[in-house]
Amino acid sequence: MLSANSNTDQSLNLVQRPRRLRRTETLRNMVRETTLTVDDLIYPMFVMTGEGQKVEIPSMPGCYRYSLDLLLKEIAEVSQLGIGAIALFPVIPEDKKDDTGTESYNPEGLVQTTVKAIKKAVPDIIVITDVALDPFTTHGHDGLVDENGVILNDPTVEVLAKMALSQAQAGADFVAPSDMMDGRVGAIRQVLDAEGYINVGILAYSAKYASAYYGPFRDALDSAPKFGDKKTYQMDAANAKEALKEVELDIAEGADIVMVKPALAYLDIIHQVKINTNLPVAAYNVSGEYAMIKAAAANGWIDEKKVILETLTSMKRAGADLILTYFAKEVALMLM
Ligand code: PBG
Repeated sequence: MLSANSNTDQSLNLVQRPRRLRRTETLRNMVRETTLTVDDLIYPMFVMTGEGQKVEIPSMPGCYRYSLDLLLKEIAEVSQLGIGAIALFPVIPEDKKDDTGTESYNPEGLVQTTVKAIKKAVPDIIVITDVALDPFTTHGHDGLVDENGVILNDPTVEVLAKMALSQAQAGADFVAPSDMMDGRVGAIRQVLDAEGYINVGILAYSAKYASAYYGPFRDALDSAPKFGDKKTYQMDAANAKEALKEVELDIAEGADIVMVKPALAYLDIIHQVKINTNLPVAAYNVSGEYAMIKAAAANGWIDEKKVILETLTSMKRAGADLILTYFAKEVALMLM
């Protein structure tokens, strides 16, 4: 009598049979190389003005813009699920926007008051604030623009440093420059240190590509650029070496964590960044990647849960230590 793991139909004389390690669930678990855990997840969330409001983003089903009161409830729940960090994005009313994004460093602005309230209500959650001008400018660009429509680098960096400082003063644990101006990480590190915020970290969007995958996010914030595109500051999708250069510069300037964004179409970049640096690497599973899965699942064309886990696992396998994802809450529930 043969036991379950023997077989008489072999005709090939093989020394190596990789299938031996895939035979049972237990064995597969034992030899698994990559494990996705709730500790890997950062949840991007949208805050808006008002009270008692929660508005679903049409191109991102399951994601909402929350007024502060409801955001705090949601964050308490997110924290209960074991998610350690959120990345905060503000929906700025049109009447608070101007050409230079002055609202971005208003100590009583939406981001600043929200951060203060979060740190009071849920002190343990790590709060990461976005440093870029696009939610605050009438033209929707991440930087200051001259009369010819050129995005100005150095004057923008000055504003970004003010913005980052005001976020640190409000209690942000990490500031996350997503603007792609040259020299902004260094300028931010310098002003934070000079003002005593030595423990506020910088999560740098180091390799951020000019990507069509950001569409739904720009719907969420009403922040699509009113003219032109972002190709003079965000990176060309065709480039990989340039990503390593950007990462190297950000590390030299004081970044604590480096990020690749988007994630799915850039797994090779995540991998190369991982093997070329000793810092933690984050990947941003962006709005368009989220929308594609949601849309296909809504049509019954894919198994949503399995595709989500497979997608995020691929990012970890590529080398991401942390993943910013709108699926964070769903995944935390699945992993429980
Ligand atoms: C803005 C910013 C963008 C995203 C994060 N920060 C959009 C952009 O650069 O136009 C995109 C996030 C997403 O698509 O999920 N600086």
